[in-house]
Amino acid sequence: MKSVGLIGWRGMVGSVLMQRMTEERDFDVIRPVFFSTSQHGEAAPAIGGQSAGTLQDAFDIEALRALDIIITCQGGDYTNDVYPRLRASGWQGYWIDAASSLRMQDDAIIILDPVNQHVIQQGLDQGIKTFAGGNCTVSLMLMSLGGLFAQDLVEWASVATYQAASGGGARHMRELLNQMGQLHGHVGDLLQNPASAILDIERKVTELSRSGGLPVDNFGVPLAGSLIPWIDKQLDNGQSREEWKGQAETNKILGTSQVIPVDGLCVRVGALRCHSQAFTLKLKKDVPLAEIEQMLATHNQWVKVVPNDRDITMRELTPAAVTGTLATPVGRLRKLNMGPEYLSAFTVGDQLLWGAAEPLRRMLRLLA
Ligand code: HSE
Repeated sequence: MKSVGLIGWRGMVGSVLMQRMTEERDFDVIRPVFFSTSQHGEAAPAIGGQSAGTLQDAFDIEALRALDIIITCQGGDYTNDVYPRLRASGWQGYWIDAASSLRMQDDAIIILDPVNQHVIQQGLDQGIKTFAGGNCTVSLMLMSLGGLFAQDLVEWASVATYQAASGGGARHMRELLNQMGQLHGHVGDLLQNPASAILDIERKVTELSRSGGLPVDNFGVPLAGSLIPWIDKQLDNGQSREEWKGQAETNKILGTSQVIPVDGLCVRVGALRCHSQAFTLKLKKDVPLAEIEQMLATHNQWVKVVPNDRDITMRELTPAAVTGTLATPVGRLRKLNMGPEYLSAFTVGDQLLWGAAEPLRRMLRLLA
């Protein structure tokens, strides 16, 4: 059995990873070693039904060197600090990382096996030992639209995203809910009274939102009752870093020889943990909609084509419906007025599952 070091297992993505690994009985096929950046020496958790001794020090290069595989959800700062030192020590093990730090390195592969199993296998054959999970919006797009990319039908993709608070982290989710609660509490009495004027209620909500009285330590501005059309850092070309990742990571995941342009606008909305995306796709040729639906639906076992019907869409193609599941539905499929090669699509996916934890545990499974 391979020794697998688990780092960052207590955080939000790490917790989802532990839950999925338990559900899939991944612990039955590995020897887990739990690490901590702050509490080494304390008892390790009894996750997966095995006693794992004490927590090891996540900064102890010697302890890390003893492992066959390391899987980390600790974040980019940890990776930037420890990974180069560990490799410099001559460690030849497999590093599986949720953070973005190593994604674009030539000797790293972005893992999303239902989409790029061939790229992963080729990398393994060539001796690649470093694997990074993709950006959540990119991974979720490819899980939903993989059928079109696999058939090399996409000339370009333009996207507007509707990204959940969880993409920022656990504290962002709390902040959103606290904002929602405060806004509601501010007008709760008026809402109880059917005779109250809605514009009075709205005015009070807007006043509180603009007053500086809402908690905004994490988002910087109110998100509840609003949205934020910027995610991650600002780049010199006017893109946000999140928008930049769309093309860079999509093409790296697919291993394209000619770049498929992907660009758009990334927006934070008040969803909790599902990212949604609205696409305009320019196809390389006019393909009948029924064939497109067939290609999409048969690409992998998690994608589901939602018929472009109002009631079904409202029931099945929302964050509320998809949260906590591995489903990556795609719907609102129709040809646009621009011409028969222009396709509209809307996707929804759980940002913590296929967007973060699931590709990591599947890579682990491949190696173990
Ligand atoms: N950067 C993403 C977001 C999450 O902020 O929603 C991580 O892929």
